Amino acid sequence: MSFDVHQVRAAYPALAEGYVHFDGAAGTLVAESVADAVATTMRSAVGNRTTVFEPGRRSNRIVEAARAAVADLVGGDPAGVAFGPSATALTYTVARALADTWTAGDEIVVSRLDHDANVRPWVQAAGRAGVTVRWAGFDPATGALPAAQYADLIGERTRLVAITAASNAIGTRPDVAAVARLAHAAGALVYVDGVHATAHLPTDAAALGADFYVTSAYKWSGPHLAACVAAPATWNALAPDKLRPSPDSVPDRFEFGTLSFELLDGVRAAVDHLAGLDPAARGSRRERVLASQAAAHAHSSALFGTLIDGLRAIDGVTPLPAPAGGCPTVSFRLDAEPPAATATALGDERICVYSGDYYAYEYFSAMGLRDTGGAVRASIYHYNTADEVSRLLSAVSERALRLGVGAGDYIDAHERSTP
Ligand SMILES: Cc1ncc(COP(=O)(O)O)c(C=O)c1O
Repeated sequence: MSFDVHQVRAAYPALAEGYVHFDGAAGTLVAESVADAVATTMRSAVGNRTTVFEPGRRSNRIVEAARAAVADLVGGDPAGVAFGPSATALTYTVARALADTWTAGDEIVVSRLDHDANVRPWVQAAGRAGVTVRWAGFDPATGALPAAQYADLIGERTRLVAITAASNAIGTRPDVAAVARLAHAAGALVYVDGVHATAHLPTDAAALGADFYVTSAYKWSGPHLAACVAAPATWNALAPDKLRPSPDSVPDRFEFGTLSFELLDGVRAAVDHLAGLDPAARGSRRERVLASQAAAHAHSSALFGTLIDGLRAIDGVTPLPAPAGGCPTVSFRLDAEPPAATATALGDERICVYSGDYYAYEYFSAMGLRDTGGAVRASIYHYNTADEVSRLLSAVSERALRLGVGAGDYIDAHERSTP
């Protein structure tokens, strides 16, 4: 396994602007090859899809290549990769189509750990169909989403379980495979939100037991486009509203209107880029993606350990609890300061961190933190460095000092250990 962060950083032209990006959970920078692919496609003779002239055949090939790329990234059948503008839009599409198969008295299960994009579309669809919503809760003391509770939540009327592969607020990775086994034993489908997880980990949607796995390319070095992956037979069982003349085949019938060919080529380029993060990786693109994601994860996890230890050492900083082994994303508060003020102060130092509830609406509501501004989120991506972690910790420590809550612990310790 090999991973050279400086080589990796060279692939991201926007890093030259000098910002420190701990905002990857909200969206990463794109790799140069992605920007090139988008621009090249836009500069090329690319027509709308047809088989009767070459520029139209080109767009067909772009779509096919993008489906194959996403299938290599998350596992699955390229013929079951549906594209849409965002994970939110795709989830609404699937929720509406699935709800047409539900009858009053059926049940679905959603979780309070999830981003609202994997909650509200289901709750609203259930409301219209007279379907009961059951809620899985997380443990506020640990940030875990216990899989065992699903044994009580899932019953013979359960039609769907919606669950995240990783929390975008605190990084928790629930035992999705265990939950999926319970769901499948009851005949329910499992919709997995992989938007946060895909950026950080090797992904095998089938091993998770996902009947649907949704992911957004702008979280993993790609453009603003999303994909939902399911078996073709699973798509085939659903009949979304669609135009009369548009294709009835799957996954095409879930893709409304003309696809963005330039962004699709960017998606293909992003997966190719990810496959090359570990230059020592060999084999098929799927194998190289898995090896590269593992190498990138090892790098990010090491930085994350330093970040968490450093945050804990600063007086006045409270990281929100999260179980070990999650994605490298932490939410914290600095004493009583509103999170937006902390994030703005860090932003003034050219350090990008997010603040608020980041649409983890149920999580922050249950934690009682929504009304007081949520939290500050720092998320590590594979282009981050140990120096950047140090800069963030110093800036938080200085901020704590300025607020009169910290003792400058991090700065002191850092300076003592730096000759
Ligand atoms: C875990 C998670 N799910 C869903 C979404 C929504 O993704 P999109 O912006 O593609 O709709 C996000 C976006 O931040 C997310 O972090």
